[in-house]
Amino acid sequence: MNKVNDMQSRRSFLMSSMFAGAGCLAATESVANKKPAAKSAASANPLIYPVRPMKAELSRELTVAVVGAGGRGYGYQGYGKKFPGTMKIVAVADINQFRLDRMANAWKVPADRRFHDYSELLAASANGKLADILFVTLPDHLHYDATMKGMELGYDVLVEKPMAQSSKECLDMLAKQKETGRIVGVCHVLRYAPYFEAMKSAIDRGLIGELMCIQHTELVERIHTSHSYVRGNWRNSKIATPMVISKCCHDLDLINWFIGSRCSHVSAEGELRYFIPKNRPAGAPARCTDGCPHEKDCIYSAIKTYVKRRGWTGPLDLPPKATDEQVTKILAASPYSRCVFACDNDQPEQYAAALRFENGVSVAFSYEALSPVGQRRTRIIGTKGMMEGGGVGFRLTDLATGKYWDWNMQIQDIPGYERQGHGGGDYRLVRDFLQAVDKRDPSMLTSTLEASVESHLIGFACEESRLTGKKIKLHG
Ligand SMILES: NC(=O)c1ccc[n+]([C@@H]2O[C@H](COP(=O)([O-])OP(=O)(O)OC[C@H]3O[C@@H](n4cnc5c(N)ncnc54)[C@H](O)[C@@H]3O)[C@@H](O)[C@H]2O)c1
Repeated sequence: MNKVNDMQSRRSFLMSSMFAGAGCLAATESVANKKPAAKSAASANPLIYPVRPMKAELSRELTVAVVGAGGRGYGYQGYGKKFPGTMKIVAVADINQFRLDRMANAWKVPADRRFHDYSELLAASANGKLADILFVTLPDHLHYDATMKGMELGYDVLVEKPMAQSSKECLDMLAKQKETGRIVGVCHVLRYAPYFEAMKSAIDRGLIGELMCIQHTELVERIHTSHSYVRGNWRNSKIATPMVISKCCHDLDLINWFIGSRCSHVSAEGELRYFIPKNRPAGAPARCTDGCPHEKDCIYSAIKTYVKRRGWTGPLDLPPKATDEQVTKILAASPYSRCVFACDNDQPEQYAAALRFENGVSVAFSYEALSPVGQRRTRIIGTKGMMEGGGVGFRLTDLATGKYWDWNMQIQDIPGYERQGHGGGDYRLVRDFLQAVDKRDPSMLTSTLEASVESHLIGFACEESRLTGKKIKLHG
């Protein structure tokens, strides 16, 4: 079968099963060294995965107050636009006027429900909350305060990761959640991506036998690194959180979710070696926009990234159809024009950690931040099988027979999931969270605050190990 026909038949199979209600995807089944099996073999593929519909089933429309109307906050509001009648933004706070107006205007939020600092929105909730739900999509250092106060005020809260900046804060939040009984979700969006859900399902169904070890690497694309972890919001572990948390708490969360046991101890290594002043070329000014003589040859030229390629321009709040001159002017006044070798960054570019779990599973986790591509590579080995994948598709190989099955769902083929961030996870998270709130049932959400605390504790322990050179025990 040629590729196009194969795609079409898979798409129509997927569509028909989706619309049948209990949607599922079966991918190719084969035996090592033989050709892929015919379509009829698809039903025998044990990786068949029930695809949940994207639209929430709710008893009523839920109202949402958003604190932080930037990239993530604005992204999540799109769910309510895509599925009218599920959620409605009724109050917004952002210190950035452009972003406040963008979100508030999109939802016709009345003037008295538009706030600048998030504390103003919370203060206005003192005599009664303004909405059913609070979305906390603020910078990392404000998550703790906004979530704690939100719970006290009676909001169910969806908080971005990282949930807080220290283990103590995470545990305080858990205690507050238990005290108030609020439904609190953490935005570990990858748990909701069909790719990772399928891996988790295969583990839980015993398809690879008893779990023995995991090797997982996050490759962070190098321009992404320069944008976020050298020049941008997450450049400094003290302002945001250490990169093993700010970037990789998703990875640690997936690992922890797959294993389903507590982590007993960790050790980690990692270093900032490249984006440091020593590597600043002679004569390079503090900003690429100040006529750098190395601009043409520099991979990290801000002019190439933001002006010529128009990449990563979200934080620049560009006007529609901005000219190169306008972009350059805005860029020059922003942190993103800074020479990558002259920033206040401290995040390591390489990180390697060894984790040991109480059920005996061992994990080799690493990230590499100078990669040409952004990718998550995972190998999960059990007593009966091995799963291996690069973030889009994965293969499960049976150790006894060598037979293998591929899971290779195309997100764009699934109604409601098309073009969704994090492999479909962004909107699925919102959908599950809304349903959990509507039904008052936190089990409808996998990334509850309680479930997410553990991965944050692992991340903070890794960082302590990296900084002290010691193996760190968790849970006493
Ligand atoms: N789940 C994920 O995969 C994922 C991906 C990216 C970012 N994040 C996290 O989401 C959070 C937000 O990230 P983002 O990319 O949307 O950042 P962003 O900078 O685009 O958005 C944050 C917004 O908060 C506003 N803000 C700052 N201080 C404020 C205050 N005192 N009161 C009101 N508003 C204030 C900013 O003006 C900005 O608009 C971060 O914690 C980040 O780590 C999560």
